[in-house]
Amino acid sequence: MTVKSSLIDPDGGELVELVVPESEVGPKMAESEAMPKVKLTKIDLAWVHVISEGWASPLKGFMREDEYLQSLHFNSLRLKDGTHVNMSLPIVLAIDDNTKEQIGSSKCVALVSPQGDIIGSLRSVEIYKHNKEERIARTWGTTSPGLPYVEEHITPSGNWLIGGDLEVFQPIKYNDGLDHYRLSPKQLRKEFDNRQADAVFAFQLRNPVHNGHALLMNDTRKRLLEMGYKNPVLLLHPLGGFTKADDVPLDVRMEQHSKVLEDGVLDPETTIVSIFPSPMHYAGPTEVQWHAKARINAGANFYIVGRDPAGMGHPTEKRDLYDPDHGKKVLSMAPGLEKLNILPFRVQQKNHFCLY
Ligand code: ADX
Repeated sequence: MTVKSSLIDPDGGELVELVVPESEVGPKMAESEAMPKVKLTKIDLAWVHVISEGWASPLKGFMREDEYLQSLHFNSLRLKDGTHVNMSLPIVLAIDDNTKEQIGSSKCVALVSPQGDIIGSLRSVEIYKHNKEERIARTWGTTSPGLPYVEEHITPSGNWLIGGDLEVFQPIKYNDGLDHYRLSPKQLRKEFDNRQADAVFAFQLRNPVHNGHALLMNDTRKRLLEMGYKNPVLLLHPLGGFTKADDVPLDVRMEQHSKVLEDGVLDPETTIVSIFPSPMHYAGPTEVQWHAKARINAGANFYIVGRDPAGMGHPTEKRDLYDPDHGKKVLSMAPGLEKLNILPFRVQQKNHFCLY
């Protein structure tokens, strides 16, 4: 007997899953051989991963122009029934003039991994201009040189964007010894249900866990128990996509996180450690909305947020790029995130954190 899940609904009501059934892989692969090809960068592939597993639900592919404009101008997407879901980062695929010419009037393209394999396709495609300056200015609030994602990914990219419906032939794997940590939203939801979680609280991070964070996460669980929840489960959810060169690498962070559980600093019975496959923009209050929205899709109904989430130092001046309090303020007011309970915290004294 299957017990009905009590978890929060995914955005748009249904979790998007775009990996084609095994029986269709052969014919779809053969069909895609004949399509014009779009070569993906490592970061593009991470976005394919993100979209294909439904982290960006209800988004079903790289954004077409109308979705791109809504994301860029409203940080949200309008659904057919008139309601809105949060979508603060444009999830787009850039192509250069040459690729655009090769695609011509074709309606479908095959997606080729950095290793040269066809991994999926985009259907009913639409090609539109990639105004990089506008995209950067609106996403980061600055076009200052030295923004890591911009330098790595946007500046070298093509002058066109291609949107369309995504299909992926196999689940995306990295073969780096960490794939077992990469649970999809569907797998996470199943795990939360198996553990009979009645509340799921997510902690996004891209740095090692330190003692203050651990105390805070344990304190949050206590608070949820006091609120009447019987079995709150923590999703310790390190970001696994692109990060800037001076951040701690993913494999080192994962080792540190499993040590934290091994040592009992966090309780393995009530904690799930998993990798969030998104690349990092370092776009502060704009990006933290994406971080929170994606966790709704994975079943989280509580989201912990502290100082300067998704922020960084200004690339050319001696100051934070964003006001360190704006992330949590924006998150508590963000259109489309009303159903998520935001748990803001602050540093009370050195290394001691408390919830507001
Ligand atoms: S982030 O890019 O994922 O936000 P980081 O791993 O540094 O970066 O932070 C994880 C979470 O802990 C975020 O919610 C962030 O706001 C919070 N945090 C990190 N350091 C501090 C700090 N010194 N004081 C308060 N909150 C913090």
